[in-house]
Amino acid sequence: MKVKVTGGQLLDLVEESLTAVDVLVDSEAGMVLAIGTELPEADQTVQLSGQVLLPGFIDVHVHLREPGFEHKETIATGARAAAAGGFGQILCMPNTNPPLDTPDRVANVRRLAHAAQASQVLPIACITKMQRGEELTDFRALQLAGAVALSDDGKGVQDGGLMRQAMVVASEWNLPIAIHAEDESIARDGVLHPGAAARLGLPVQPGESESAMIARDLLLAEATGAHLHVCHVSVEPAVSLIRWAKLRGIRVTAEVTPHHLLLTEDDIVKDDARYKVNPPLRSRRDVEACREGFLDGTLDMVATDHAPHSQSEKQLGLAAAPFGMVGIETVFPLLYTHFVQTGRLSLAELVRRMSTRPAAAFHLPGGTIRVGGRADITAVDLQARRVIEPEKFYSKARNTPFAGWSAAGWPVWTMCNGKVIHDDLVHTGTGGSV
Ligand code: DOR
Repeated sequence: MKVKVTGGQLLDLVEESLTAVDVLVDSEAGMVLAIGTELPEADQTVQLSGQVLLPGFIDVHVHLREPGFEHKETIATGARAAAAGGFGQILCMPNTNPPLDTPDRVANVRRLAHAAQASQVLPIACITKMQRGEELTDFRALQLAGAVALSDDGKGVQDGGLMRQAMVVASEWNLPIAIHAEDESIARDGVLHPGAAARLGLPVQPGESESAMIARDLLLAEATGAHLHVCHVSVEPAVSLIRWAKLRGIRVTAEVTPHHLLLTEDDIVKDDARYKVNPPLRSRRDVEACREGFLDGTLDMVATDHAPHSQSEKQLGLAAAPFGMVGIETVFPLLYTHFVQTGRLSLAELVRRMSTRPAAAFHLPGGTIRVGGRADITAVDLQARRVIEPEKFYSKARNTPFAGWSAAGWPVWTMCNGKVIHDDLVHTGTGGSV
């Protein structure tokens, strides 16, 4: 079936311009057939009213909680929330119960994700069995079952020798190793960055627990030739280390989360666990460094670290609640509002950081809209301004510190692989919309 998307404005990532053109898609093949102003009629038409057409976003760091924690999120609800956020593809972390450390478990996630008919879910498998940090999993078997990267996210791999061995094997199969950088001998049971910890009387999680492990793993990546991907960078020394490593030619990519770009430890004014996240919200200086690293490309991409938790878990307060905040439904408007509308970043550059660069780093299709390419398309209403209301999320979870923030630039329609997976357009009854 052929679908024509008409009435939108396509963002040209090279020229950084918007052009009023139609896009013709082969829905079965999941492919863009043509882009232009005089395209033939199709079986169905999607009538837009001036929204901007962007390549489907890709989030390389999402927690979907199935199996084991379905009260927080399921693959279906998480993938549906991602579709509403404008995402064509999401990579899910393996810290489920049981963790994704066997080919069967990886294949099962792919099966459940396929049935969800929402954003495409690509599993990241464990580096170590049961994420215990003791014994490597079978990387090749996990890759053949559908894993696109490896991570023990939620925990750092403490044993440097084991990490070195992991990188040797991962580089053989060209699998990125995505690290949760946290040296437990430094972090211990720390909850907050030093300033907030002192104010609220809670244990400190020092920034060096992150930067020390990043330094170790950059050197291991250099020695082994592995592709190291650094998750949720949050401290200034980490940004400097990654900048240094890139200059040195080390194969490293890095992500930054919306919360580490937009919030500091000073925003935690009371015992509110919506602000509890790992790594913790950092100092103003760290946030400035992350912004600088994001703007100059040291931090390649945005990832949300979407970490759903139930209300009752978060009500336990900062000391006892689990770490994590949701982000997949609000990331684009937040960054569009705070980086593009403020003139710090162009729209095209933000899109490169949310689509093109993640696709390139993780060897995924998509990342651009081009003839012959994959039909992952997101329509965004740049004018729409809304207040963030967690009760309206598609996600099961509501744990965001951005509730009540006003933001512009909301995704309204998402196509993944040629199929419409989110449609918030106002249909007039004409044009035979899909
Ligand atoms: O805040 C976090 N939550 N950080 C992590 O690394 C894990 C995640 C989770 O699984 O909840």
